[in-house]
Amino acid sequence: MAQRPLIMLGIESSCDETAAAIVGADKTIHANEIASQIDTHAQHGGVVPEVAARQHLEMIDQVIQRALAKADMKISDIDAIAATGGPGLIGGVAIGTVTAKAIAAARNIPYFAVNHLEGHALSPRLADTVPFPYLLLLVSGGHTQLLAVAGPGKYHRYGTTMDDAAGEAFDKCAKIMGLGYPGGPAIETAAALGNAAAIALPRPLKGSDNCHFSFSGLKTALANRLSQLGGPLIAPINDLAASLQQAIADCLADRTKRAMTRFKDAYPLPDNNRPVLVIAGGVAANKHIFKTLATVADKAGFRLCVPPSILCTDNAAMIAWAALERSGHPDPLDFAPRPRWPLDPDASPPPGRGVRQ
Ligand code: KG4
Ligand code: ZN
Repeated sequence: MAQRPLIMLGIESSCDETAAAIVGADKTIHANEIASQIDTHAQHGGVVPEVAARQHLEMIDQVIQRALAKADMKISDIDAIAATGGPGLIGGVAIGTVTAKAIAAARNIPYFAVNHLEGHALSPRLADTVPFPYLLLLVSGGHTQLLAVAGPGKYHRYGTTMDDAAGEAFDKCAKIMGLGYPGGPAIETAAALGNAAAIALPRPLKGSDNCHFSFSGLKTALANRLSQLGGPLIAPINDLAASLQQAIADCLADRTKRAMTRFKDAYPLPDNNRPVLVIAGGVAANKHIFKTLATVADKAGFRLCVPPSILCTDNAAMIAWAALERSGHPDPLDFAPRPRWPLDPDASPPPGRGVRQ
């Protein structure tokens, strides 16, 4: 077996953050630098892929230099390098991949292509002691999935979204309500001042006999209620935000409850071992969703684990850590970036949808 590297440089560039981190096999995060493009994309109300790629190209060397300076290390102190190899916006993924390969070739060190979703999936183990297997609710801007995580590279998907992801629903609804980008934090702030029972909104797929999600109908319902209430300038935006956040939290809770039963059946644990539910991805930073799922977990006898916010939203420490979890086995330098890269390639698609992974 290949020798396990001790100090990993990670690169993340799959969406709107250019990030570099240096992480030790002992879980020390020596540096975790992020150059956010949010201000640029906010002007367009969402991520513009071409603009994102140009900014990654402009920032990537600086961010790596910043990480080395923060860690007080030289490039010769790095044992191996990992970069997000997909899924994500292909321009950014290609820039991170080429940069990592160039450093690996020049320094003659191993290169790891990391699945961005695996970065999120394994992130709780960087911050905490979380044994395999665990149930994962992965909620990011592009994905909403329930999976059993049995080990690095070992995933069983129980459910995925049939249309929009939860983060996407937050972002699209915030845009409709005039709350800006990114939508999740803006809606959470507005919701804190609103009444979650004020506006009736649907709970798509609640009670259905599977673990899938659907959020596009919720977005349409919100748009309709907003226009009935007179549009973004006069409608009670805080109440709408609170009602939407509650509806998303309820959908996540209902689907997760169902997945908990399936997980317990598939991975029976001795009585004194509580199963673990992990929430990861940007939406896991939402305090109301955390509280809702904490209640669900408590009732079902699960321990809830949510990584700190800095490891929930996109970052390179989780990419470095996912590569360290692999215990060796680097990738060849001819690895081709993958815009789509499912964690569980054998999962059957949700009814009515064939492509979204
Ligand atoms: O994981 P992430 O940083 O990037 C992707 O891989 O997509 O997730 C970004 C998503 C965005 O949709 C953003 O609106 C959402 O996470 N998000 C939140 C919060 N913070 C970020 N959603 C709800 N509440 C938050 N506090
Ligand atoms: Zn992400």
